[in-house]
Amino acid sequence: MIDLHVHLRGTITPTMARKLAERNSVHLDVASWAEKGYGWHDFTSFLSAYDHIASLIVTTRDLEEVAYDYLARSAQLGATYVEFMLSPPDLMRVGVAFDDQLAALSSARDRALEEYGIDCRMIATAVRHLGPASAIQAATIAASRRDDILVGFGLTGDERMFVASEFKEAFRIARSEDLRATAHAGEHLGPDTIIDAIEVLGLERVGHGIRAVESESVTRQLASAKVPLEVCLTSNLALNLYPSIDEHPVSQLAAAGCVVVLGTDDPAFFSTDIEQEYRLAANVGLLAGDITEQAKAASFK
Ligand code: ADE
Ligand code: ZN
Repeated sequence: MIDLHVHLRGTITPTMARKLAERNSVHLDVASWAEKGYGWHDFTSFLSAYDHIASLIVTTRDLEEVAYDYLARSAQLGATYVEFMLSPPDLMRVGVAFDDQLAALSSARDRALEEYGIDCRMIATAVRHLGPASAIQAATIAASRRDDILVGFGLTGDERMFVASEFKEAFRIARSEDLRATAHAGEHLGPDTIIDAIEVLGLERVGHGIRAVESESVTRQLASAKVPLEVCLTSNLALNLYPSIDEHPVSQLAAAGCVVVLGTDDPAFFSTDIEQEYRLAANVGLLAGDITEQAKAASFK
């Protein structure tokens, strides 16, 4: 199994959150909050809960432990490879240089590789709702990295803010240093935004992209260009994009020839893991072997 779409900070379990809060003396009532599934009820409140939990990571040790924890748990389920997203400025704000973040993540990767045989790479991301200037800053930091663990650049956050063309310069900077490109599109907005993002930003994969199904022409274009869609089934159900797995468009997209790969998105917030994603995909007729083969070809490694 391969997980190609997971936000590193979205993997922080309540147990890990409690440990980090205690260690870093953060006054956050994680215990009661965690019981309520981190207390979010829609995409906007999810993003805010995510930021709170994300702020519990303040040192390279925290970062190393969070990454290792997810790799170990995924490997125990049978996963062999993970591509994590993380936003470089998050920890830089509390004084941790990006190269030090990457060194901590490489150490987590080496430990997990040796102990469990699972490998990983990182995708540096800009946060869309922070705007184009912040995205250029994230891309500039990512483009200056010195660690081979960083392989891509992406765009996360609230898709309803700003249009793809406003992030063109950020992606140009990242791609000029051979970082591979992906961005969230077609999760909360309609199909035309997907093609727009691919063309304007030079995407090689699309985060989610499932709303392509609403346009026959967009579905056809994605199928013929073979741009992989990073589909996160449980996330889409949790955020109420579809009422049930039977109504999720993933099988329709696959049947139309779109390349589907899987991700857990924010597994600690959506109560999922990569095994559950593969199981849900199997329930709607997608074969694990096919998905893993497609994921190997789609990976940025
Ligand atoms: N950041 C963390 N999780 C996200 C998601 N599901 N969509 C967009 N941005 C995110
Ligand atoms: Zn995501």
